[in-house]
Amino acid sequence: MRQSRNTFYFNLATADNIGIGFFKYLLYPQEHFVICNRAFANILGYSTKKEVTKKNLQSLFVYPEEAKKFLSRIKTRKQARFVEALFKKKEHTKVWVAITAARITTKHKVYIEGIIEDITSHRKMEEKLSLEKDYMQNLLDNIPDAIYFKDKENRIIKVNKFYADGAGLSPKEIIGKTDFDFFPKEQAQKMAEDDKYVLSTGKSIVGKVERTLLPNGTWNQVITTKIPTYDRRGRIIGTMGITRDMTAYANLEHDRLSMVMDGLNVSVKAMQMRDPYTFSHTRGVASIVEHIAKELGWDDNRILGLRLAAELHDLGKISVPMDILNKPGKLTGLEYQLIQEHVQHCYDLLKGISFPFPLAKTIYQHHERLDGSGYPNRLRGDDILPEARILAASDVLEAVSSRRPYRSALGLKKAKEELLKGAGNKYDEHIVNVIAVLIDRNNSVPFWAYD
Ligand SMILES: [Fe+2]
Ligand SMILES: [Fe+2]
Repeated sequence: MRQSRNTFYFNLATADNIGIGFFKYLLYPQEHFVICNRAFANILGYSTKKEVTKKNLQSLFVYPEEAKKFLSRIKTRKQARFVEALFKKKEHTKVWVAITAARITTKHKVYIEGIIEDITSHRKMEEKLSLEKDYMQNLLDNIPDAIYFKDKENRIIKVNKFYADGAGLSPKEIIGKTDFDFFPKEQAQKMAEDDKYVLSTGKSIVGKVERTLLPNGTWNQVITTKIPTYDRRGRIIGTMGITRDMTAYANLEHDRLSMVMDGLNVSVKAMQMRDPYTFSHTRGVASIVEHIAKELGWDDNRILGLRLAAELHDLGKISVPMDILNKPGKLTGLEYQLIQEHVQHCYDLLKGISFPFPLAKTIYQHHERLDGSGYPNRLRGDDILPEARILAASDVLEAVSSRRPYRSALGLKKAKEELLKGAGNKYDEHIVNVIAVLIDRNNSVPFWAYD
């Protein structure tokens, strides 16, 4: 018995040091505290044990229903483990405690023996985390962007509501899958390459503009950001992506650009009044470059820029006297020089205008040849823009196959021959091959639109 009491006091002292409050409370026949340790008093804001043991246990609970619940558990189950309750402190403040207690019954008395721990900081942290979780969930559920988390094998582990709604699938049908399950192979491949880049370098891909074919068959213009995700030790465990639908914005931009194109076409039409041949030629070249660029898989904006360059490429001929432009027979050196100047004139007209594509430069280079035999700067090889190479070959294709004021049409066959002859030295071989394919596919009749 003596030893047991000693052990009890030893435990109380230890508990004081680690801040665990012990108490023994007589529940029947007359409620009152029998004993408590210093930590019990301290947790409840009392400096002496005496002060707190004068209290009734139930009066320490802020909410009577919590007291009732605790006591009913003690009465029915004999014990209560880690019951969380809000207790009153001496100075009218409150403290969250966890109570673990047991009912001890002797012949004539019923006691509660138990411990309490201050869990206020734990509860505050829990509440903060829960609030942050709510914020995060709210953000995920309501943001009008597709958000997705993937593991290191690019398997989707979490998506938000917008993603699931856009895919027309439930999150359950998406989790565990990869982009290959939802997108065409080529597109999924590009997405996987981006994921791989983020996973292997730890760098983010920010604001990548791309076109996405949705599972419902419609194309979307989207802007995507991908970032790595980390575990607590700072190791990369996957990726998180945010994809915003920019289709409406892209359409608006397309309309705005079309408006600019229409405005510039006024200049082209002014040329038509003066020089119908050149007008018809530029329209034909514009159609040709568009066919080639599409065949090369260029994106819409780049094609639009190239088409505009084609529409305007001979605008500089406005400075060449009509009798020289339409002169049948051989031109003198001076006349030829005047015609060649149309490139410089056109460049001078456009170089000050800011375009999101190299419009003036493309036009400036449309008479350059890979072997340096062109004009005005005798550029060679890679110094000539891909746009200008397409424009150059298309220019020749249209000019040779159509009727000119000073000669009749030489025909498509002759034009193709001319291009094949110059492929690799004057003209870009790949582009000439594409043109040959387009001609063959169209049964050797012009594949472009005539006005
Ligand atoms: Fe030209
Ligand atoms: Fe031309």
